Amino acid sequence: MTENYPAELRSDAELDETLSLPTNQLVGFMKRIPGDIMILGIAGKMGITLGLAARRAIDAAGVKKEVIGVSRFSDPDSRTLLEGHGIKTLACDLLDRASVAQLPLIPNIIYMAGRKFGTDGSEDLTWIMNTEVPANVCNHFTGTNIVAFSTGCVYPLLPLGQIGCTEENSPAPVGEYAQSCLGRERVFQYYSRAGKIKSLLFRLNYAIDLRYGVLHDLAMKIMNDEAVDLGMGYFNAIWQGDANVQALLSLEHCASPAAILNITGPETVSVRYAAAELARVMEKDVSFVGEPVDKSYLNNAARAAALFGYPRVSLLQMIRWTGLWVKNGHRSLGKPTHFEVNDGKF
Ligand SMILES: NC(=O)c1ccc[n+]([C@@H]2O[C@H](COP(=O)([O-])OP(=O)(O)OC[C@H]3O[C@@H](n4cnc5c(N)ncnc54)[C@H](OP(=O)(O)O)[C@@H]3O)[C@@H](O)[C@H]2O)c1
Repeated sequence: MTENYPAELRSDAELDETLSLPTNQLVGFMKRIPGDIMILGIAGKMGITLGLAARRAIDAAGVKKEVIGVSRFSDPDSRTLLEGHGIKTLACDLLDRASVAQLPLIPNIIYMAGRKFGTDGSEDLTWIMNTEVPANVCNHFTGTNIVAFSTGCVYPLLPLGQIGCTEENSPAPVGEYAQSCLGRERVFQYYSRAGKIKSLLFRLNYAIDLRYGVLHDLAMKIMNDEAVDLGMGYFNAIWQGDANVQALLSLEHCASPAAILNITGPETVSVRYAAAELARVMEKDVSFVGEPVDKSYLNNAARAAALFGYPRVSLLQMIRWTGLWVKNGHRSLGKPTHFEVNDGKF
């Protein structure tokens, strides 16, 4: 068990509490940075616990600072949860330029709005969402630090024998979702180079929550006695609570031109290994189909580890928590990552 963490997480409340646990580093950061923090696209899979982590770190720092969450709040419960934890919320469709123009000017922004699933067949919507919304945001905010969530899928897929893509690798996105994410990055780069904002492109590979994520997907297959596909043989992942902390700390590394930072865990995880360990925790059998193609999304986050330290939650801890969560029938968001997709069609 990871030090100071429970052996098992038994409810959404316990899980949110664990995913939003701030670090001393984050508390110190909140004492240093001036101004409030705004999270654009807060109501998604990651934004809620990121907002909660920011709020808890500010409270622990004993400083006066607002966390403001912006989304359409398609699910009103997310708004109630955030407000209940002291996060101010503003409903706004970021596609609507006039509404964006009404947002208060805040010096620190975490940009999380995006569209992935449903791209195949509605490519235009994905492109508009992933490029026009960033333009709306960059046009409105001036002199702001923006950590813009992106994805390791802007890189090419690599054979296992290589070290994973570092920030120096040129993007070569496969498929329209990944291409539109590079489009999103280019918009932030343009406005950063022009000196209007400072930004950091946060290239994340697979956050692990227990209600969704690569390990959750594998555990669901095992639970339902479905074979695990070995087609995408390897992946990188990071505990979402650690990714949340690193996103907030990245505000201090925004730059003009835009900085780039890969974010993931230290291991290159074999799907076969992770599935076997999950099955052990779940006391289930596991079967496999397919053969690993020697090409995966492999993200080298050595630079982030040098800046922030290694993630707090280990791979085996994530596996154990996920296995028990799924085995005991806790909530699933029902949003598979489709991490096994290697042709870019989401
Ligand atoms: N989770 C991961 O493992 C992962 C991995 C790599 C990259 N990323 C990137 O990280 C970002 C955050 O991840 P996530 O998993 O939390 O994404 P997510 O679940 O898709 O959340 C994004 C949220 O943005 C809000 N949003 C979308 N369109 C909007 C609009 N027009 N105006 C205002 N708000 C809007 C939505 O909430 P409302 O419907 O309430 O507006 C949505 O829930 C995404 O951009 C994703 O591409 C995530």
